[in-house]
Amino acid sequence: MAGNLRGRHFLKLLDFTSAEINDLLTLSATLKNNKRAGVRGHTLDGKSIALIFEKPSTRTRCAFTVACIDEGAHPEYLGKGDIQLGKKETVADTARVLGRMFDGIEFRGFSHETVEILAEYAGVPVWNGLTDEWHPTQILADLLTVQEEFGRLNGLALAYVGDGRNNMANSLMVGCAKVGMDVRIVAPESLHPDQGLVAQVEEIAAATGGSVTVTASVEEGVAGAHAIYADVWASMGEEDQIASRIELLKPYKVTQKMMEQTGRNDAIFLHCLPAFHNHETVLAKQYPDICEVEDEVFEGPQARAFDEAENRLHTIKAVMVATLGN
Ligand code: CP
Repeated sequence: MAGNLRGRHFLKLLDFTSAEINDLLTLSATLKNNKRAGVRGHTLDGKSIALIFEKPSTRTRCAFTVACIDEGAHPEYLGKGDIQLGKKETVADTARVLGRMFDGIEFRGFSHETVEILAEYAGVPVWNGLTDEWHPTQILADLLTVQEEFGRLNGLALAYVGDGRNNMANSLMVGCAKVGMDVRIVAPESLHPDQGLVAQVEEIAAATGGSVTVTASVEEGVAGAHAIYADVWASMGEEDQIASRIELLKPYKVTQKMMEQTGRNDAIFLHCLPAFHNHETVLAKQYPDICEVEDEVFEGPQARAFDEAENRLHTIKAVMVATLGN
């Protein structure tokens, strides 16, 4: 490892160097190979891990749970309503209690400040499983998937198309810039990312050989892209905005035509999931026009969303092993 990550929190990728992120990807690949070869790890033997979830989750919850079990730890799910966090007791007090009992804490929730307070007071590593601002473990899985596909990250172009100011856009900008990629945020102007963050990412990119572009033009944004990335049009907690987002983001739906606009036969489609790609879910039936990617792409040969989903396990395991493992 470029640096010893033992004891570190994992709250956002801005806190990590390019070398540390690349090392986490290398460790993820090793752990993935081990798992596929049937080699069990013991780096977290005897440890207990708290998994706090204010918001629902399939991939993140299951990845943390299985990663704990694979490496010998006990995962304890603490769902919304199960604990006092911020209701009858301050976040700082809950952090101090959990830190006396658990060896590591995962948090998924709304406010990024909550995970920062947990990290400040727990006395054990705290990992961000998604906040309104950042989703750093997702980006490790995305980068591993791109690396597996193209054999490298440096110099590759990734176009994120959709809501340009959500946690995925923020985190992708930082993560891709850190590893020297050409990252494009393709979104209507009203959903462009925070200018201050873009300036920060430009500085990172200048140091790594990467670049960042923010544009409302699909044609400009996807030209030459090795990967097109989509997320849902309204994030968790924004359900009341679904109708307006549909109107705003309809022109940004990922279609086969958009994949062809990359000009690359080897371009791949990425999605953090869950995805609206057909009309079979409860919400999709309620909003027939909600669909950030057409089924032809989602189910097509260029799609890698389920490779990404699997890679959540290996990359989350790498974060826990690097920060807490023996
Ligand atoms: N991508 C992602 O975070 O999935 P979940 O919401 O299912 O955890």
